[in-house]
Amino acid sequence: MNILKLLEELTQVNSPSGNESDIRSFISSEVSPYCDDVTVDAMGNIIAHKKGKGKKIMFAAHMDEIGIIVKSIDDKGFIRFSALGGLNVRNLVNLRVRFLNGTEGVIGAQEEAFKDKPALDKLFIDIGEKDKSEAEKKVNIGDAAVFEGGFSENNDIVISKALDNRAGCAIIIKALSEIKDNENDLYFVFTVQEEVGLRGAKTAAFSINPDIAVAVDVTDTGDTPDAPAMAVEMGKGAAIKVMDRSVICDPDVRVKMIETAKENKIPYQLEIMTDGGTDAGAIHLSRAGVKTGGISVPTRYIHSPSEMVSIGDIENCAKLVYNLAISEW
Ligand code: CO
Ligand code: ZN
Repeated sequence: MNILKLLEELTQVNSPSGNESDIRSFISSEVSPYCDDVTVDAMGNIIAHKKGKGKKIMFAAHMDEIGIIVKSIDDKGFIRFSALGGLNVRNLVNLRVRFLNGTEGVIGAQEEAFKDKPALDKLFIDIGEKDKSEAEKKVNIGDAAVFEGGFSENNDIVISKALDNRAGCAIIIKALSEIKDNENDLYFVFTVQEEVGLRGAKTAAFSINPDIAVAVDVTDTGDTPDAPAMAVEMGKGAAIKVMDRSVICDPDVRVKMIETAKENKIPYQLEIMTDGGTDAGAIHLSRAGVKTGGISVPTRYIHSPSEMVSIGDIENCAKLVYNLAISEW
């Protein structure tokens, strides 16, 4: 399986939180050849099961991406919107958005948008229609859009929208495709609505009730000019999560990850991310608690249309997931 090609295809599907149907069909058909069964639960999570007699291990990657949702349309056809996920208002002006029906627009800003603290309600989307009724022929309340951000590669580096978290999806698909005879009972889960509060992971973890869980997602880096202090660097290997704002990872799982990386000569680094959470946050609090860890792809410019990752890091994350899946726990 060519992970670069898979990653390109995954990132170019438009599926913001709550609107995951296109990415769900794409991933379902990718994983079905490698699984005993693939089901979709009421929330829309994909649960791909590869049966085994050993420990029940859940690998989770969220498949939604950040975006926006239409709140109202004014008489002149300008669209007001809310965020689907954590948007940095300062970075939104003049970006292009694409609605799921293909309609494109540009984000504009009123003068007062940046007067005090940046205000999302002083931004609007212009789809170029002359008034409200013309605009409503293309876009309606509740319609969602994503940021435009094509895929480009240069040696080890990839730039694209939605690497958060199609990178994680690519990693667990790749690992799954390589597993032959597994002793462990393996669940590969592609969750919905992570960006709006880890929602899909919550119900998926409840229904699977795993012994061990691993969330695969992106993490910030501390390696650009004036970046906040953080030990993670792009290109330095799989990041093994110690903690983020949503979880303190289970120490046994963390140690197992480190040992597995060492045994298999997989470059790794330790991650503490102070600025965000992951599905691990919801999973470890499921039922009476789940021993949970995290594997992360060091990513620059997260939640922008130009996220940047190293393909080498992604391959190393996939190796780590594969080796954890087949190892004895
Ligand atoms: Co995110
Ligand atoms: Zn993410």
